[in-house]
Amino acid sequence: MAALASTRRVPRLACCLSASCSRYQSLQPRIRGQPQTRRLLQIDASPRARVPEFAFAFDIDGVLVRSSDPLPRAHKALSYLQSQRIPFVFLTNGGGKHESERVEELSAKLDVPIATSMFVQSHTPFADMDEFKHKTVMVVGGDADKCRVVAERYGYTTVVTPGDILTAYPTVWPFSNHLLQNYVAFSRPLPAPIDPASPSTSLKIDAVLVFNDPRDWGLDTQIIKDVLLSRNGILGTLSPKNGDPSLPNNGYQQDGQPPLYFSNPDLLWAAKYHLPRLGQGGFRAALEGVWTALTGGAKQNVELQKIVMGKPHQPTYEFAEKRLIAHRREILGQRQEGALAPLKRVYMVGDNPESDILGGNSYRSPHGTDWASILVQTGVYVEGTTPAHVPRKIVGDVWDAVSWAVAQEKWSANP
Ligand code: G3P
Ligand code: MG
Repeated sequence: MAALASTRRVPRLACCLSASCSRYQSLQPRIRGQPQTRRLLQIDASPRARVPEFAFAFDIDGVLVRSSDPLPRAHKALSYLQSQRIPFVFLTNGGGKHESERVEELSAKLDVPIATSMFVQSHTPFADMDEFKHKTVMVVGGDADKCRVVAERYGYTTVVTPGDILTAYPTVWPFSNHLLQNYVAFSRPLPAPIDPASPSTSLKIDAVLVFNDPRDWGLDTQIIKDVLLSRNGILGTLSPKNGDPSLPNNGYQQDGQPPLYFSNPDLLWAAKYHLPRLGQGGFRAALEGVWTALTGGAKQNVELQKIVMGKPHQPTYEFAEKRLIAHRREILGQRQEGALAPLKRVYMVGDNPESDILGGNSYRSPHGTDWASILVQTGVYVEGTTPAHVPRKIVGDVWDAVSWAVAQEKWSANP
């Protein structure tokens, strides 16, 4: 399984935590009651001020919220850290809305000011894939066509969804016809027809980007399979190379088919229901099952060639660490390189051993920073069971995680 390598800068969006930001002003009173904006945020930069050489990366679902409900001590944990100028970022495998929108929601839910630069979600790195910005991409997953809107805000000019294809060609997947009215509400005309008789003018997909948890596994599986078995990504065609044993991967995905990106590997995640729910990783497993049934799978030396991003993968942590270092410099008021003692340790606080803990444990920081994973019991992980990946510490909830970490760091201002 190939993990995506490169990550690049993503534009800053919502709240900049700056003096003029009305959003931040409105939240100021709750941080130590002193609404002195940027000066408040910038630690007293005089040499005597203590500069924390540690920071936090917080998972969201199962740590700070359960679906839309904030977890009890999430506000207390984050506002304590802000009062101590201890930097933190959010690192979630969730998504489905633009960063600025999610920051707005999370900030209101947790009643803590959040800058968009502190927020990394599963598809944030998609904003950097300039090579596809002016090509035709198929965006999969999320509510209605929210992910198309996110992709367009990232700069993608031609975005197609499976819903657009179904609306234009209902026979492409007869089992979602009962949902057609729903799709019509947010689908768009296709940039080109599906016309196998005229491949050069037929709809061609240049990349498939699974932005968020798919809502219609049947339709999305059908359409992705059609693209991957096509010739050159031209919908409605079939590659003559499929099943050719003289070719690698038994000829599958050897005929200019588009790359397939998944933004989040999570099989399970902690939603409102008391038991974990299937996530994007569940959809991927189902798709791989269909692919194996169609191609013969491993028995025929065939795999589903794809790029899977998100936690626990190294590039996602590199991306988040870059954001954390920039944010730390921002809030500790040290603009220039080197003026700030390097970050010694980052506490990765998560509820999912497979993504948060495995990611925190296996991340190798190019800055030599130690990433220490802390597992909470408010999400996927069930108290008393043995986690698949052993964290540095298991605690009850996010407040316990912060309390334990600052004690480890001998940071005096008791939480
Ligand atoms: O779809 C979201 C889910 O997979 C997990 O999100 O915040 O726990 O990484 P999070
Ligand atoms: Mg989680």
